[in-house]
This record gives sequence, structure tokens and C-alpha cells, in this order.
Amino acid sequence: MTVTGPGRAPSAASGPAASAQPTLPRPTAEPSDLSATPTPAWPRAWWRDAVIYQVYIRSFADGNGDGIGDLLGIRTRLPYLRALGVDAVWITPFYPSPMADGGYDVADYCAVDPLFGTLGDFDALIAEAHRLDLRVIVDLVPNHSSDQHRWFAEALAARKGSAAHDRYIFRPGKGECGELPPNDWESVFGGPAWTRTVEPDGTPGDWYLHLFDPSQPDLNWHDPAVRAEFERIIEFWLDRGVDGFRVDVAHGMIKDPELLDVGYPNQITMLGSAVLPYFDQDDVHEIHRSWRRILDGYPGGRIAVAEAWAPSLERLAAYVRPDELHQAFNFHYLNSPWDAEALRAVIDRSLDTAGLVGAPSTWVLSNHDVRRHVTRYGGGEAGLRRARAAALLMLALPGSAYVYQGEELGLEEVLDLPPELLQDPQRLRSPDENCGRDGCRVPLPWSGSASPFNFTPLNIVDGWLPAPAHWAALTVEAQWQEPDSMLGLYREALRLRREHPALGDGALAWQAAPEGTLVFSREPGFVCTVNVGDGDVELPVPGTLLLASGPVGTASPGVAVLPPDTAVWWAIES
Ligand code: GLC
Ligand code: CA
Repeated sequence: MTVTGPGRAPSAASGPAASAQPTLPRPTAEPSDLSATPTPAWPRAWWRDAVIYQVYIRSFADGNGDGIGDLLGIRTRLPYLRALGVDAVWITPFYPSPMADGGYDVADYCAVDPLFGTLGDFDALIAEAHRLDLRVIVDLVPNHSSDQHRWFAEALAARKGSAAHDRYIFRPGKGECGELPPNDWESVFGGPAWTRTVEPDGTPGDWYLHLFDPSQPDLNWHDPAVRAEFERIIEFWLDRGVDGFRVDVAHGMIKDPELLDVGYPNQITMLGSAVLPYFDQDDVHEIHRSWRRILDGYPGGRIAVAEAWAPSLERLAAYVRPDELHQAFNFHYLNSPWDAEALRAVIDRSLDTAGLVGAPSTWVLSNHDVRRHVTRYGGGEAGLRRARAAALLMLALPGSAYVYQGEELGLEEVLDLPPELLQDPQRLRSPDENCGRDGCRVPLPWSGSASPFNFTPLNIVDGWLPAPAHWAALTVEAQWQEPDSMLGLYREALRLRREHPALGDGALAWQAAPEGTLVFSREPGFVCTVNVGDGDVELPVPGTLLLASGPVGTASPGVAVLPPDTAVWWAIES
């Protein structure tokens, strides 16, 4: 049996572009010429098969040397994203915030936190991204504000029933003196979803609702002033040129009006799919419809992607009906085990349900809220092998895909961070030492041999979380010239995805496949084979090998051997 290297086989496999690796693009300090920024003339449905890169701003690149990622850092690294081959970048919140939840506790929706830069930095970032043909999506956090938002201070100081008070959700407590929370709802980060207020005279008052941290009070979306304010916020950023929004907790704004008890404890985990009176209520869709009307009023194909933890793929599809949002992260896919039957089932159901409303599916394997998938898939060499195969599977599926920063480097979850550096409120509020999201938020390793791997300029200051020493082998610089590296695999897959007419939006057809294996074709002339099982699989060679996530053998002429956890893209000549 002959063996070709992963992702390689220059003669038969990935073609000339993989062997001639251009040099690693240097970060740029200043955009070339802002005044010359053209207005991009993109087709409307660009998002149906876009690959969008998620930047977790604190951890992507530090521009000013304080150890925390920022807008300048992102701008200097745009050439990297361009060369990687993604279509757009989603940037997590950079708004003024006390940072109790990494910026998802917003104190002012129309400004930039000094930690991350200025509005001028943001404008420069957008202009440079557009010059490079990259679109920019920003986070919209409508379910809750920070308790430091001017509105919350006003609400606490205001009389019951006043306009200022009604912007949040206050209720009297139960029990003789109101000492018990109004109902049994729980915070996603642990503990009750209610915190008691204190009246100006020092006596205990009503309770306010916070589905996340107590410093993140839920806004009252039955109040027209809240709706009007968010329309203004959306227009503020659209006018500044953003290409869309990632809507945080898009399933959360409307609560069951009766505030009915759930009836049991441990109600919800991050990205969970439980049916609850405080999530995924039908009336939330009306809000999304009103936002779609605003987006459609702007030129250039502005979009919104829902972070909706829907109980089922049917419920998820409702968020991407033609008059609602454009995309919705497919967390059912993210949560699927690495198992052929489970994957095939979730892929089929995703395509069917999204198809019912004419939407593509939006695939995702990792983000800043979950363990990195190298680790979820078993960690070590097996986890990496599976993550490589998973990348080729995801990028061959019909629809769009999100890539979380560092997955293209094969980063794993960092599980041994010094406890005193941890910041995630989920970890800080839970007795469970294994929970928490800091381990997927460690600053990205760019180059060099020691932490912070040039995440900060001159590499003098350490990043806000230290990177493991062995990431020296995983830096962008270390992998850039290596076609066999994870980065080499992503770059080549993204290049082929752009070029091959079968990839992106469209349909797939399953083909006969041995147990534990997924084989599907896409027209014109493309087949993807994935061995998800734990033994070698023999398959008739379907065509010319385009790209492989691992070594591919030959059993006999015309019969390929796929080792476990290996995906291969093939071109079929007609
Ligand atoms: C979303 C964000 C998460 C945040 C939560 C509360 O799920 O992705 O990071 O903690 O909302 O805003
Ligand atoms: Ca910084």
C-alpha cells in the first residue's frame, strides 16, 4: 500500500498552490489609504456560503502592548485573514463595559471601550477590511445590558411604573416579606436568575431578572422604548459600515408573560437545548422581523446571525425564515458526537429544516463559549486527527461556516490555567472546577518560541492568559509554510472551496458507504469521504484526490484505504 502525506500529495493531490506557499503576510500598522476605500459591490446572497472567522477580541492580537487584544491588533492582522481565505470576520463586543462577562455586559452600545481602542480605530478597521474584501460583523447584545448602563441606574432610582423603571424586569419577591425570588428561574452561570434590589432608604426592594450574571440585568422587550433604542443602535453601526450583526442570545428577549416556574433545578447550560419559559418564545420573532426590515433598507447585503439555543432544528429554522435573520449557528451540529450515524442524522435534519424556509445551514464547531473541538473530540493526537477530518467535512457541507480563531491552528482547550487568572463568570460562580470558558480564550500564538508568541507587540508583556509552551510549534509562523499543518489544511480547503463550483451553497447526495463512513457527492464533480470509525476502510477511488486530512493508502488499483478519522475531497471528471 502506498501512502501520501496528509493534505499533500503534490503530484496527485492538492495542486500547485499548495506547494508554492507565499510568504506569511506581515501585520500592517496603518491602512494604506482610507480615502481610496471603494464601496464594495457584493452580490446580495454572499452569506449563503460565506466562511466567517470569529475574533474573540481580547485574545486575537494586541496592538498597544497592554496584553489585551484590541481593534488596532485586529487591523494589523487583517492581511492574515485575507490570506487564510475567509470572507468575513465577526468581532465579539468591544463596547464600554465593566467586563464582568468579557464585554457581553455592555454599558454603552454606541461607543468603544478604551481597553479596545476608539471609534476612530473601529472606522479604520472597517475601511481596511473592506479594502481587502473582508466584511465585518459586530456583536449585538440585546437581551441584557450591564448594570453599569445608564438605564439601569435610572431604573433603580425611578419609581415603579415609571418609564425609566420599565426598561428592566422587576418583580416583588415571594414569601412573607418578599424574601424569596419571584420564581425558580436559574441563571445560565449558576444560582437564581433574580437578585434583590435595595431601596434608596436601605430596605430590601423588588427583584430584577438576570438570565446571566447579576451584573447583566435583562431588558424588558415589552417596552417600546427598548425596541426603539435598539433600532437606533443597529442603525448607528450600519451607518458606520458594518456588514452585519451576530445577535447574542437571540432567543432570549421575550419571556413567558406569566413567569411560570420551570419546576426543576439545573435548568440550562451554555448552548443547551432545554425547553424553558424564558427562552425561544414565539413572540421573539417579531423583533427579528423588525430588524430584518432595517437591514434590508441598507445596500450591500447586510446580515444578522442568530445565537439562538433552540430546542430543536425546527425551532432553529424559524429564526432564518425569509423575513427574519439570515443565519443561525447550528449548535446541534456543534454538539454532535464524532460518530458517523449521529453526524449524518444531524446533517440531514439540518439541511431539511433549513431547506423548509429556504435558508442554508450555518455550520460551526467551536466558539468562545465551548471547549475547543480538538479537546471535545478526545484531545491529543486523536483529537487533532478528528478535528482535521471535521474541518474538511464541515467545509464540504452545503451552506456557510464559522471558524473560531485558533481552530485553524489546531489549538486545544487549555485546562491548566492558573486559577488566579481566570475571569469567566461561569467559572467564578460555579463550584465545578471543570467548567468555565477561559481555556478556549487563551491569546493566539502568532510567532516566536515563548508565550505570548508575539500576541503583543515586541513580545514584552505577557498576554492576559499565558499560552502553553508547546504552542511554539503551533504558531501561525510555524505552520504557515507547512502544507501538512492544520493551518496548511485550512488554507488549502478554503482555497479549494472558493474555486470549486460544487462547494458552498447547494445540495448534497449521500452515496453508499461502509459502516462508520460518510460519503456524499456534490454537483458538479465533487465527492467527500470521511472515515469516522476506528478501523481502516476500503473504498473504490471515486476520482482524483484534491485534499486529505491524513494519509490515504491504496489497497489495490482503484481501491483507496482511509485510516480512522480521515476525510478526503475528490474531484470527479465528467
Ligand atoms: C452569549 C455569549 C456568551 C455570553 C452570554 C451572555 O451566549 O456568547 O459569551 O456569556 O451570551 O451575554
Ligand atoms: Ca491592547
